Amino acid sequence: MLVSAEDTYNNSKLNYLKYLLFGAFVIGTLVVWILSFSLSRSALKPLYNFRKKIQEITDSNLKIRLSGEKREDEINTLANSFNQMMDRIDNAYERQKEFTGNASHELRTPIARIVAQLENQLNRDSLDPATRTNLESISEDTFQLSEMVSSLVALADINSRENSRSLMRLRLDELVFSSVADLSKTCPDFKLKFEIEQQPGNEHAPEIAGDETLMKIALRNLMKNAYNYSDNHTVDCLIRRENGQLQLLICNKGEIPDVENTTTLFTTFYRGSNTAGVSGSGIGLSIVKRVMDFHNATVFFKVIPPDTNQVLIVFDIA
Ligand SMILES: Nc1ncnc2c1ncn2[C@@H]1O[C@H](COP(=O)(O)OP(=O)(O)OP(=O)(O)O)[C@@H](O)[C@H]1O
Ligand SMILES: [Mg+2]
Repeated sequence: MLVSAEDTYNNSKLNYLKYLLFGAFVIGTLVVWILSFSLSRSALKPLYNFRKKIQEITDSNLKIRLSGEKREDEINTLANSFNQMMDRIDNAYERQKEFTGNASHELRTPIARIVAQLENQLNRDSLDPATRTNLESISEDTFQLSEMVSSLVALADINSRENSRSLMRLRLDELVFSSVADLSKTCPDFKLKFEIEQQPGNEHAPEIAGDETLMKIALRNLMKNAYNYSDNHTVDCLIRRENGQLQLLICNKGEIPDVENTTTLFTTFYRGSNTAGVSGSGIGLSIVKRVMDFHNATVFFKVIPPDTNQVLIVFDIA
């Protein structure tokens, strides 16, 4: 005879145990996960901070150093080694900048003397035609050399000012007029078409916070480019205000440079395909870029085929 009975009491206990074990497993896993997550987060926090600091390092901002806590662990040793490496790079960079600055300044005087002596020679009436042609060619090359040295001095000037920023309120329209007036001395056929776009109810002067010398160097370079690479020596210039930005647009009609990406034009010593017959060394736009970086402004070069070259500078004034 077979007798069976269900042990309901113990079954319910077993069921209870099953849920208890399952619950304990889930809660245990969660606790372990949260604990290990917060532990690893706090252990890796210094590395996360280092990454943020390292991302701020640029060629104009080499003074940033990593600051660890006063513990003698692997992370602090790494931070110290990194800081020592940055010291060495910073020193080498400073020495290199100093050398470029000094060399350019020293070169300026002898070149100016050569230019003056060549001019004196060329003014002599007794010069035979062959010598005159030779001297004229030397004079042209020396003029280009002097322009290049002036550009290098300008670059050195930007470097030295980066350590002692003193910005003043400057009117963009006045800067444009003054650089055009400077340029007209050497390019008398320079024609400027100038316009300011005012929004109704916003008749503020087009002012920026800037360094006058550097802004003039940049604008002179842009105006000279627009003049040199235009068909009609006419430069269109527009100042407008848009969404808390002050924009300066400089346009000229002429052959457009054949480049895939116009940011290439801002590379030092790069010259485009449209430079036939125009002397230069490819430093102008890189100076402009450096000056605009100094002012936290952005500069864009846009080509609108078939023949419009456009430089746009955007200042954030909001
Ligand atoms: N307004 C412009 N219109 C057409 N092409 C331009 C204009 N500005 C610059 N470019 C192109 O960009 C190149 C780089 O300009 P950048 O001013 O740096 O050098 P450069 O004018 O050739 O020489 P440098 O300015 O040193 O005398 C130029 O060679 C030219 O091809
Ligand atoms: Mg140029």
